[in-house]
Amino acid sequence: MSRLQGKVVLVTGAASGIGEACVGRFLAEGATVVGCDLAVPTTDLAVTEGIEPAAFVQLDVRDETAIAEMIGAIIAEYGRLDGVINSAGTAGGGPVHLVDATEWDRVIGINLTGTYLVCKHAIDAMLKQDAVDGERGSIVNLASIEGLEGTAGGSAYNASKGAVVIFTKNMAIDYGRQGIRVNAICPGFIDTPMLNGVFGAEGIEHVREGIRDEHKLRRFGRAEEIASVALFLLTDDASFVSGVALPVDGAYTAGRDHGVTELMGL
Ligand SMILES: NC(=O)c1ccc[n+]([C@@H]2O[C@H](COP(=O)([O-])OP(=O)(O)OC[C@H]3O[C@@H](n4cnc5c(N)ncnc54)[C@H](O)[C@@H]3O)[C@@H](O)[C@H]2O)c1
Repeated sequence: MSRLQGKVVLVTGAASGIGEACVGRFLAEGATVVGCDLAVPTTDLAVTEGIEPAAFVQLDVRDETAIAEMIGAIIAEYGRLDGVINSAGTAGGGPVHLVDATEWDRVIGINLTGTYLVCKHAIDAMLKQDAVDGERGSIVNLASIEGLEGTAGGSAYNASKGAVVIFTKNMAIDYGRQGIRVNAICPGFIDTPMLNGVFGAEGIEHVREGIRDEHKLRRFGRAEEIASVALFLLTDDASFVSGVALPVDGAYTAGRDHGVTELMGL
């Protein structure tokens, strides 16, 4: 498949989890991919025989100078920037009376301010390039189901992701006339290092199982399943999709299941 042939795509958080899965999928679909992350990838970014690997930039998404330089370098090297996936993120929070201000600032700084800074410089570059089939670019922000509803102990994380949802809608309004689409994906709990970092500890298996079973498909999601939806949002198949916060969550947010239909054999 070559659904991204000729497209230049930037992926933040590219060294792990959902970002890494996006890099691999987009390369396989023919895109030129630039990945960035605070951490250096432990493997070459999706090197498959016959496919050019992604370029990699080590940076902190809170560093505006580094972001501006990276996007400037992408334009200098490839001539345009068609798509952005904002996947850099961090877990964190706790019941709010126990959250100190530095932890609050760290979570908001990476998840919200980092997304803002990348969007700011990506959109500035997209506005300066010619539209192709009426489109200048497509941006996909990784929010979360925790940006759509509350979760026990979510505080700073939920606040950051709720803000990413509304910020996404705002950008869709502001830049629609210029042919830039902006959407958010709201994943359920996805089996990545982030999930395992938070819920992988011994003694809390019952919490992990409870979370798993809130997904009506009764399993965690896979990073590749989020990358598939990110791919869709980048392509012309989604040419009329903008300003959406799309749950990709195995029906986690569909509603409550009190077990009534299970009694009926379902
Ligand atoms: N895994 C889940 O269950 C889940 C659910 C909903 C939303 N999300 C969101 O999806 C995105 C990706 O999550 P993941 O599960 O792949 O996590 P992950 O921890 O596997 O990957 C996140 C990546 O972001 C990078 N990163 C962190 N801080 C950074 C910074 N300041 N600058 C640059 N890079 C930085 C990390 O080094 C890491 O490689 C995050 O925004 C996360 O909040 C994840």
